[in-house]
Amino acid sequence: MLITGTRKGIGRELALRYLEAGWRVAGCSRGAGTIDKPEYRHFEVDVADEKAVVSMVRAVWREHGRIDALLNNAGIASMNPALTTPVASMRRMLETNVVGTFLLCREVGKLMVRRGGGRIVNFSSVAVPLALEGEAAYAASKSAVESLTRVLARELGGSGVTVNAIGPTPVDTDLVAGVPAEKLEALVARQAIRRMGTVDDVQAVVDFFLAPSSDFVTGQVVYLGGID
Ligand SMILES: NC(=O)c1ccc[n+]([C@@H]2O[C@H](COP(=O)([O-])OP(=O)(O)OC[C@H]3O[C@@H](n4cnc5c(N)ncnc54)[C@H](OP(=O)(O)O)[C@@H]3O)[C@@H](O)[C@H]2O)c1
Repeated sequence: MLITGTRKGIGRELALRYLEAGWRVAGCSRGAGTIDKPEYRHFEVDVADEKAVVSMVRAVWREHGRIDALLNNAGIASMNPALTTPVASMRRMLETNVVGTFLLCREVGKLMVRRGGGRIVNFSSVAVPLALEGEAAYAASKSAVESLTRVLARELGGSGVTVNAIGPTPVDTDLVAGVPAEKLEALVARQAIRRMGTVDDVQAVVDFFLAPSSDFVTGQVVYLGGID
């Protein structure tokens, strides 16, 4: 399994859990790795860096001869009303969230198609269906991730490779650490089930997408917490 964004947060937790479950996991982040396990290998790679992504995917392929699952978890967010969002902030979010997800899908997708199977899970957010104020750049980047997911699912439909996305509600990580408490409470109040999300909630959806019996499920975006 290849998981992006494993230095901290949801990606790190998922990597630890899948290692525990017996997977061999390769992970990446811009910073140094924080998981010290025999079946884990860390790459210091920015997902938006095409050359670095190509060489990482080749290295994983050479070492293991297969990549069964790709979790495109690496992502960044920043709260800012659209009218005061610096273009540099918009570009950073598009580079990591969209270009990064695209590059990993492209490089890993090619190898999965060649092998005749695989699972790709992309990371969106409830910021898309909720059209969250203050999250224009982030929501736009995650909308693009959803479109990429749907189109890729169709392009790979006959190859045994499924492409789906999860849209988590707020989960307590550094990503939401800067969001004022009242904003988080207002967001949670719009959910059918009014509580913060957890890595367990995220993993339940990822497990479903990864299951061999889910081979007829592709191009779907599953939101947590009862958001539609
Ligand atoms: N937490 C939430 O409430 C929430 C809600 C909805 C969706 N999500 C989505 O869930 C995913 C994980 O979020 P999180 O809460 O775990 O965030 P986080 O705690 O901020 O962790 C983000 C991870 O991604 C890595 N990363 C960031 N930019 C990268 C880049 N350009 N290249 C490679 N790695 C990069 C970071 O490591 P480095 O800094 O070392 O690169 C870190 O390991 C994101 O896609 C996010 O949009 C989160």
